Amino acid sequence: MTEELLRLDGVRKHFGLRGAPWRESQTVKAVDGVNFVVRKGETVGLVGESGSGKSTLARVATRLLDPTSGRVEIGGKDVTRFRGRRLRPVRRTVQMVFQDPQASLNPRQSVGTILSTPFRAQGTRPTRGQLIELLQKVGLSEEHLERYPHEFSGGQRQRIGIARALAVSPDLLICDEPVSALDVSVQAQVLNLLADLRDELGLSYVVVAHDLAVVRQVASRVAVMYLGTIVEEGPSDQVYAAPAHPYTKALLSAVPVPEPGVTRERIVLTGDVPTPISPPSGCPFRTRCYKAEDICATERPVLELVQGHTEHRAACYFPEPPTS
Ligand SMILES: Nc1ncnc2c1ncn2[C@@H]1O[C@H](COP(=O)(O)OP(=O)(O)O)[C@@H](O)[C@H]1O
Ligand code: SF4
Ligand SMILES: [Mg+2]
Repeated sequence: MTEELLRLDGVRKHFGLRGAPWRESQTVKAVDGVNFVVRKGETVGLVGESGSGKSTLARVATRLLDPTSGRVEIGGKDVTRFRGRRLRPVRRTVQMVFQDPQASLNPRQSVGTILSTPFRAQGTRPTRGQLIELLQKVGLSEEHLERYPHEFSGGQRQRIGIARALAVSPDLLICDEPVSALDVSVQAQVLNLLADLRDELGLSYVVVAHDLAVVRQVASRVAVMYLGTIVEEGPSDQVYAAPAHPYTKALLSAVPVPEPGVTRERIVLTGDVPTPISPPSGCPFRTRCYKAEDICATERPVLELVQGHTEHRAACYFPEPPTS
């Protein structure tokens, strides 16, 4: 069995919302019972509509947020309750690349200072040579060291964000919508950089995206999130060729098929994603599902192997039949 870099068991992250004093306080169930494993060498795509809990899950998985319940294992170690200095080795295993490089880089710090921060968090100081090497890894150079974030293009800023994540030589990068703030023309360059770094440094990735085309391009495995839970997961080619969960099928039906002449029946999702403050009983997707029956409102379906498969799972009482 390949080494496990990340394991989430029954992870929940609920946020308390303090409303007006005369109202009862409410709870946002941003992540509501997720099991998820990433093994060495994998690139896993995590997809779902906005608000499905992807960023929250990414932050819990990197231990930037404490889970409300459940267990987080990183590099085979239970780190669920680690705090402060005990998180140092965790940071050396898993790092995060953020969605919006503009917002995640301090505008008052030079690139050199930004890239030094992860070293300082480990209690060390980088040499100038180490910083230059980091810049070169992401296609930038020594001349960029003294510059400030506003002097760069969006794509270059994301390269700086990636260099910062690489500073402590992690094994796993969790990239939260790494290209969605970028122009389409620049997106491919950044995705290519991630692929090159994977080959060069033996990195593993979780790539979060709301865009299924992005995930298809990079991921060997895909997990689909809906209202804080994973509703389907499996090898990308299997999930894309024959989605088992009605939600995945609907999402994919909106993506153009690469083969000329082949079309897919378009399934239009009606209604909005329900609020994670009071998600539907039973199956979270049932209020928008074209196959929902009474049983779907009773208990939440669990992820189970799709018939005839060993790694492809879906959480649905009436999964789609495999297409031939
Ligand atoms: N700090 C927070 N406090 C309260 N609610 C939050 C917080 N962070 C996220 N949420 C809510 O949790 C849900 C999931 O958000 P998020 O993880 O950002 O989803 P995604 O990244 O898939 O768009 C959303 O309803 C969002 O409003
Ligand atoms: S369990 Fe029921 S409501 Fe949920 S996706 Fe399957 S058929 Fe639809
Ligand atoms: Mg997000």
